Amino acid sequence: MTDNLVEQIAKLKRELNAIILAHNYQRGEVQDIADLTGDSLELSRKAAETDADVIVFCGVHFMAETAKILSPDKTVLLPDEEAGCPMADMITAKQLEQEKVKYPGVQVVCYVNSTAAVKAGSDICCTSANAVQVVESMDKKRPILFVPDQYLGHFAMRKTNREMHLWPGYCPTHMKIGVEDVARQRALYPEAKVLVHPECRPDVIDAADEALSTGGIIRYAGSYQGNHLIIGTETGILHRLRKENPSVEYVPVTKRGLCPNMKLITLEKVLWSMEELKPQIDLPEDVRMRALTAVERMLAL
Ligand code: 13P
Ligand code: SF4
Repeated sequence: MTDNLVEQIAKLKRELNAIILAHNYQRGEVQDIADLTGDSLELSRKAAETDADVIVFCGVHFMAETAKILSPDKTVLLPDEEAGCPMADMITAKQLEQEKVKYPGVQVVCYVNSTAAVKAGSDICCTSANAVQVVESMDKKRPILFVPDQYLGHFAMRKTNREMHLWPGYCPTHMKIGVEDVARQRALYPEAKVLVHPECRPDVIDAADEALSTGGIIRYAGSYQGNHLIIGTETGILHRLRKENPSVEYVPVTKRGLCPNMKLITLEKVLWSMEELKPQIDLPEDVRMRALTAVERMLAL
């Protein structure tokens, strides 16, 4: 059954001149049919440069939206339109405008986990892979507002020594990872390094050895010399880690780190979406153009 699905998807991919992009948190079988599996930054770069006519985005809504911002003439499909990111929905464009008024001369850095309308009201975008670099590039004389993830903002603030106003958003999945989970796994695997995502709470980041984007975690594992790595992020990443660097044993900090939205995309939905050419991502052109400025400023760094 799965083989049949995979064959049908491959056939349609050729007919449509489509590219399939998958985030590192996708189900293993979805990652396996993708042309590229990666973190938000890697996927955005690919969406910007591809010459495919159709982008099938296996991830969550803001990721497919970013692809559309960068490639307006392409058909961008999100195989389940319910696959959203709760953190991205923790600030609206209206709330952002109200917050900006509080800090005259403010420059807004928005995490890519945000809606296109919020990006449109921001000066520059960032991902977990380049948040520190983006914050460092900001005008030192003007205040910075970082939205919507307070924890990534806090992480970048500490790394750069820059003060920022932080919007109180967070990722419900990474919130489930606690310091006690890190301590428990460290006791079981004392020689292992602990890698977490910067969306984790500051006490968890302090208890870890490194806080890295999902792409950073994959690269770290590629040159790791030890036997065990303890991984503190969404558990979908374990599939790619085990596939690409099988000599290491990967131990999740906790099995609670699951993003239900990422898991909404299935092979059946990918096939259906390609057959029907829906659900498509569509954006008002004025919003897209303003959001593009923020995304392009990030990609130019
Ligand atoms: P990355 O950009 O590190 O892949 O993170 C995306 C995300 O949604 C993390 O929860
Ligand atoms: Fe959003 Fe968290 Fe899921 Fe990433 S893991 S898509 S930040 S809810």
